[in-house]
Amino acid sequence: MYRTSSIDFRKWLHGYAIIKPTRWGELAIARIVSGKPNVEDTSLDTSLRPRALGDFIGQGKLKENLQIGIAAAKARGEALDHILLYGPPGLGKTTLAHIIATEMGVNIKITSGPAIERSGDLAAILTNLRRYDILFIDEIHRLNRVIEEVLYPAMEDFALDLVIGKGPGARSLRLKLPPFTMIGATTRFALLSPPLRDRFGAVYRLDFYDQASLEIILKRSARILNVKADADGLREIACRARGTPRVANRLLKRVRDYAQVVTKGAVTQAVATEALSKMEVDQTGLDEIDRKLLHTIIEKFNGGPVGLETIAAAISEEADTIMDIYEPFLLQLGFLERTPRGRLATARAYEHLGIPYNKPKPAQPTLW
Ligand SMILES: Nc1ncnc2c1ncn2[C@@H]1O[C@H](COP(=O)(O)OP(=O)(O)O)[C@@H](O)[C@H]1O
Ligand SMILES: [Mg+2]
Repeated sequence: MYRTSSIDFRKWLHGYAIIKPTRWGELAIARIVSGKPNVEDTSLDTSLRPRALGDFIGQGKLKENLQIGIAAAKARGEALDHILLYGPPGLGKTTLAHIIATEMGVNIKITSGPAIERSGDLAAILTNLRRYDILFIDEIHRLNRVIEEVLYPAMEDFALDLVIGKGPGARSLRLKLPPFTMIGATTRFALLSPPLRDRFGAVYRLDFYDQASLEIILKRSARILNVKADADGLREIACRARGTPRVANRLLKRVRDYAQVVTKGAVTQAVATEALSKMEVDQTGLDEIDRKLLHTIIEKFNGGPVGLETIAAAISEEADTIMDIYEPFLLQLGFLERTPRGRLATARAYEHLGIPYNKPKPAQPTLW
């Protein structure tokens, strides 16, 4: 089996930067359009989280495949295949894990990569699982490699290999585990080691949501939160929600507060536009930091290509945060391109910021 050390793998992947998983920067937490959950989202997420697959809007293909998988596992009376969910924050990975447990009628145990510090922690979790339970590991790319090795036999053979004693007298013991389903979630598919990836029977990518799906999600949220909003008001919020349900719900809440305190009425298009402009979220959902990032590439680095670490230093942001939060949406909008030599601002980005675009000339050979 081919194995590569974590550092090598990451180096290979990013070419120029070793990405170390770090904690979320303060700024990321404070940002209104970040897909990452912040403190106030915890209760919002729970109250607005759809419980059944039928209430989970969008991601049609994924839902269809999942439905088939669930029905088949149920019909055979077996545990569902291990599932890996990946995609930017706020698109519904945690929600889906809960829904899968509900649809299968089983318990879900929740943990995360950084929370499992020693192999003993994982062994304790695994031995406490009951038949067909779901083990949900969030941020699975941050799982320690040594601990990952404990997962391999657990996922493959439902077995736990324990080493008893030390030195020459040590023996290994294989413990049988009940059949269970592991659901892993990650924002960074590429940081997962290939052997771990291979052990998932199904791998699903969550995509950014289209406008229509976001409007349906917002309509449902407005109903649950008792917000008076008209269709145009919700459409305006959906436009600026970066294709991300968590952001849509958060914006709805902020606009509701604005409507209640400042304009004293329902959420209409005018109210939503006014409130969101005050929060510096523009018509495409970009905020101050997105614009700063693009301005920096364009003005300081001539439009790029410029390395991620250099951008990070220039805007005082962590490279990890940029990759997880800002970049995916800027790439999706076609404002940014990833090239082997670094990040490049596109003509669209120039246009969006109102900066004249001079097509870069092909590099001239230097004559000495
Ligand atoms: N498909 C969806 N339909 C309706 N609401 C959704 C959907 N996906 C996500 N949400 C909302 O967005 C919030 C964040 O989703 P979550 O599953 O926590 O995202 P992730 O785990 O990918 O960061 C949820 O609480 C839920 O309210
Ligand atoms: Mg989550």
